[in-house]
Amino acid sequence: MELRLPSTVCFRVTRYCNARCGFCLAPPDGAHPPAAVLVQRLDWLAARGVRIIHFCGGEPTIHPALAELLGHVRGQGGSSLMTTNGISLPAPLLAALCASGTQVKVSLHGDRPHHDATVGRAAFDLATGNLLRLLRSGVPTSVQTTLVAGNEWVVDWMADFCLAQRVPRLSFLPFIPRGSGFALRDRFSLEGAQHAQLRERVRRKRRELLGRLYVRWLDFPARPVHVVEADGRIVPEPPSETIGTQLGFNSGGSRRA
Ligand SMILES: C[S@@+](CC[C@H](N)C(=O)[O-])C[C@H]1O[C@@H](n2cnc3c(N)ncnc32)[C@H](O)[C@@H]1O
Ligand code: SF4
Repeated sequence: MELRLPSTVCFRVTRYCNARCGFCLAPPDGAHPPAAVLVQRLDWLAARGVRIIHFCGGEPTIHPALAELLGHVRGQGGSSLMTTNGISLPAPLLAALCASGTQVKVSLHGDRPHHDATVGRAAFDLATGNLLRLLRSGVPTSVQTTLVAGNEWVVDWMADFCLAQRVPRLSFLPFIPRGSGFALRDRFSLEGAQHAQLRERVRRKRRELLGRLYVRWLDFPARPVHVVEADGRIVPEPPSETIGTQLGFNSGGSRRA
């Protein structure tokens, strides 16, 4: 039976990463396909009606073929989104993001100490610097923040930061216990009441800032999405880590670019 796909998929370019977030739902697993395999996957998806490619990972910006992939999607008449930790943004990639009209989300999790502790390295200055480069270059750019237990202050801090830096949109993603996060769920999980309180806090912030900053609460499980894994499986989310449909081509050689 032919697989039916939505018009948008999340496309993991690589599972390599230049950060080490303790909660990572898609941590490094060795999959890092070469450009030719990724281009073949994009063609396969386009032939099945997928029009919007959401580039993610791992960290998409560390794949040397990302600029080429953005151009490829554009050439097919599709459009691109990208979520990045913002640590690395080489000039040719910035140019490709501009040329392809890609919408970018930069993941930022709070102030410098909290962000750096979260991503496991000194990253705040790089991420915020690249966020500003994106905005100044006219790339439609927003901020995405993962909320974990015990850090309610992050909602206000992030909203103030986005207002000060003229970021138009801020999305909050509550922690989901998957990948590395599953092992650390006791530390990060937002238990029932805490989840509800945080959600209400984000709702209030959204109302308070209406017309100045667009604030959103994203609940992954409420928004099922198909993920094209770096190893070539297509996994409908919320996934069981064990299921998946192999893409209809040979994904051999996907371990290293
Ligand atoms: C898997 S990352 C991939 C893209 C890129 N490396 C980044 O961090 O932006 C995509 C988004 O998921 C968020 N994320 C990762 N693990 C999560 C988890 N267990 N719960 C909620 N959000 C998570 C990240 O903070 C990021 O905003
Ligand atoms: S959340 Fe993103 S930046 Fe953090 S480890 Fe996972 S892939 Fe890397």
